[in-house]
Amino acid sequence: MEALAGGETGAEAGVAAGAGAIGTTRVTGAGSCAHAAAAPATARTAQTEKHASMALGGFMAERDHAGLCGKMQLVATWRLCFVNAIGVPDLRQTSPEGVTVIDHPLIRVKLTIVRDRGTSSEEFRRELKELATLMTFEVARDFETVVREVETPLAPYAGAALARPVIIAPILRAGLSFVDGMLQVLSNASVGHIGMYRNEETHRPESYYFKLPSHLSTAEVLVVDPMLATGWSATGAITQLKANGARYLRYVCLVSCPAGLKQLREAHPDVPIFTAAIDPELNTNAYIVPGLGDAGDRYFGTYSVMGG
Ligand code: URA
Repeated sequence: MEALAGGETGAEAGVAAGAGAIGTTRVTGAGSCAHAAAAPATARTAQTEKHASMALGGFMAERDHAGLCGKMQLVATWRLCFVNAIGVPDLRQTSPEGVTVIDHPLIRVKLTIVRDRGTSSEEFRRELKELATLMTFEVARDFETVVREVETPLAPYAGAALARPVIIAPILRAGLSFVDGMLQVLSNASVGHIGMYRNEETHRPESYYFKLPSHLSTAEVLVVDPMLATGWSATGAITQLKANGARYLRYVCLVSCPAGLKQLREAHPDVPIFTAAIDPELNTNAYIVPGLGDAGDRYFGTYSVMGG
């Protein structure tokens, strides 16, 4: 396995870049230097700023005012984010079209843990599972429901049931890391499997397995993969799903980047994308930076621990 991408900035930049957290910490500290003063690693501020300032609205904006605080900090942040009445940026308003950045303190905290290169596989698995559960609430926010009549012990009640069955479709193998967490709140969902192998030379996907339930065309299909890097696997998987009849598709990832979002949006503009963070860039090996390294290797513990 390649060294964890961006590990040197992982934990700190993770908070800043997580969920585009663009300014989430900055605006909280706006008007004072609290954030900057509390940050021990001032040498890393410039890098952190760069990562934190990746654009949500446009794909590529950047700012270079390391060390600014207080009023200037707020102004700089304001250019990137809408800020609500209590000073918290609403990232959902600033995401690229069709992309929902799920911003929540628990998600930012857990995402920082999984970004941290020092996090064990055990903790990585646990946190990823919980992240998947938390993200599912937002992914399912506008699922259609139908009336479901039940009898409480006291009276009839007109409640709700999901209008469509749900299929969770992980892209193998890292997508498997999201399944258990999603099933916590979608316990009736079926699970299909899509094998997309990334050719390490071309970075293009090759399909080797496709097994989906027969009710694909009537179901809400959640295509999941924690990392949206080049976007080619996601594009290929969704193309295959549509060719097999899927109509109600959503794509769910933990960390994305502008290149992957652009690729997927252009190929499948009808498929909404949900992510917890948009990181600034891909490195030459198509790893997201700062990212979290190889999600599959970290989840399954398949990196070499003794240099072997
Ligand atoms: N796949 C991963 O696991 N990590 C990346 O950064 C990119 C692709």
